[in-house]
Amino acid sequence: MCGIVGALLKSGSVTEGLIDGLSVLEYRGYDSAGVAIVHDGGVSVRKKRGRLANLEEALGDGAFLGALAGIGHTRWATHGEPSDANAHPHTGRSGKLAVVHNGIIENYIELKRELLNEGESFSSETDTEVLTRYIDRLWVEEGGDEAALVRAIRGVLPRVTGYYALAVLAQTPTGPVLLAIRKGPPLVVGVTEDGGYLSSDQLGVLPYTRNVVFLEDSDIALIGPGRLDVVDASGQPVTREARAIEWDPSDSGKGDYPHHMLKEIHEQPDVIARTAFDRIDLGAGDVRFEGGAFDDDFCRSIERIQILACGTALHAGQIASYLIEGLAGIPVDFDFASEFRYRNPRLVHGTVALAITQSGETADTLAATRLARELGARTAAICNVAGSTQVRESEATILTHAGPEIGVASTKAFTAQVVAATLLAIRLARGRGVLHEHKAREILEELRMIRPKVESLLTDAAIARCREVAQQHAGKRGFLFLGRGVNFPVALEGALKLKEIAYVHAEGYAAGEMKHGPIALIDTDMAILVINAEGKVAEKTRANIEQVKARGGVTISVGSDAASHAIAASSIPVPATSEWLSPILNSIPLQLVAYHIAEIHGCDIDKPRNLAKSVTVE
Ligand code: F6R
Repeated sequence: MCGIVGALLKSGSVTEGLIDGLSVLEYRGYDSAGVAIVHDGGVSVRKKRGRLANLEEALGDGAFLGALAGIGHTRWATHGEPSDANAHPHTGRSGKLAVVHNGIIENYIELKRELLNEGESFSSETDTEVLTRYIDRLWVEEGGDEAALVRAIRGVLPRVTGYYALAVLAQTPTGPVLLAIRKGPPLVVGVTEDGGYLSSDQLGVLPYTRNVVFLEDSDIALIGPGRLDVVDASGQPVTREARAIEWDPSDSGKGDYPHHMLKEIHEQPDVIARTAFDRIDLGAGDVRFEGGAFDDDFCRSIERIQILACGTALHAGQIASYLIEGLAGIPVDFDFASEFRYRNPRLVHGTVALAITQSGETADTLAATRLARELGARTAAICNVAGSTQVRESEATILTHAGPEIGVASTKAFTAQVVAATLLAIRLARGRGVLHEHKAREILEELRMIRPKVESLLTDAAIARCREVAQQHAGKRGFLFLGRGVNFPVALEGALKLKEIAYVHAEGYAAGEMKHGPIALIDTDMAILVINAEGKVAEKTRANIEQVKARGGVTISVGSDAASHAIAASSIPVPATSEWLSPILNSIPLQLVAYHIAEIHGCDIDKPRNLAKSVTVE
């Protein structure tokens, strides 16, 4: 949420790179965009409400070319409506300091009042401007040079309640200074001989270097060409090691696809293979994680698993709960991270808190996991970003190899999470000795063979079928997604995809629950997608299709259960596989149906209204 970038170069011009960086980070927020550069002995700012394109147009006069240092911001509004005035960067009265911010300053009203009493004035409604003015005043009082700026920031931060990733740009008597400060939201730094770069995520730094530093909480870093000087909370200089990033900067492009989401849907065969295949030991009927993670002793020591996640990642977590209980026999609880952290949870001895998160930076998931740790749980994560806070804070991690996910609606990261959860369930079951080698091998062989089945769901003909269903039903008043067992969370995920990108009301429901209320919604203006795979609950789910039909509902069956297709009004067939693996396949047509309905409605598919990826604030 909110993307920030900054750079201080040895030579050249900073603005073009800032705009490139913002275009990569725009998925984090798109309410406004702005840049500040050092210019004519001070800082100059351009900022515009709306998409980055508006800012680019405003910069068309070339006045911002040639500066050596600058910062930029793409906003997801928290305090104050999206407007030019509320857009970042914000500046101090000195005219020599600008700040961009990702996060929330919770006590900004109290600080604002104090500053107003001291004669300060404000031109926006934001919390960030309050912080900026505060830092600027202290900086000027302290002498206005580089050392004074570090002192000023160290003086202000203890007064601030909240979460922040900040970039501070200042023009000092000895030249421009760029600082990165972090408490909560992520901040990544890269340094080369040519420049120092900072960004909310590694994608903003990767064009310059693959060796990136993930700042720790409370770090204050001075950045420049060949320079990274970090002090920790106590003001002591610290070394933060760089880590090499595998992602290719070009992975964050759209390729030939009209949308990131469609590209990412099409990447799923590769993503599933990358996440699963090297970890499968077919000979032993087992799973091997890197570094021997989840070894037999660890698996046997677990009494209970508490899954913590948000949104789509929680749906993957719900699927994980069926897999882990069903295969490994370990009791599993799952909860919205945002509920867990405030409900006074009780954890039994031997609990492992398993966080599932694409970004590894979701504020609620991080806080819930920290709370679980305080309550005595060990922590593990399924995560897509090596080096993220969630990974750094977890005792064991299974990385999903989905690559950068830019579309705000998660697709490939979700299927990768489900694959990782499947591998984990099998490892836990094998480590505890509760799943026979040949049974495990059967599922793993199926997983090893899943790639062509995934590809078959992405052929022109398969996509055309999903588009047809979308065309038939795009005008419906509402959508109900029904599923049972391991495919119940798939129904929840199908409904979420449709809501978030097509702005259509959709509900996911456990098929057996339909009779306990939602059946009253059913009429001919409601489309009911029933997810049903061959397996032990197929017959029960078929009965639900009959019940919906009997009440005039329009049914679309999705899955491998041919008998469901025979009775539903229309169908999207999916290849047969193990019931345990069916969520991986069944999710894909639902992603495509949502995509095409959103397309028919003319929605902004990669940047749905009000949303942003990576929810780094509560
Ligand atoms: C929906 C979606 C979100 C995320 C959620 C958690 O398509 O992407 O619901 O799943 O915000 O994000 P991560 O996985 O980064 O923790």
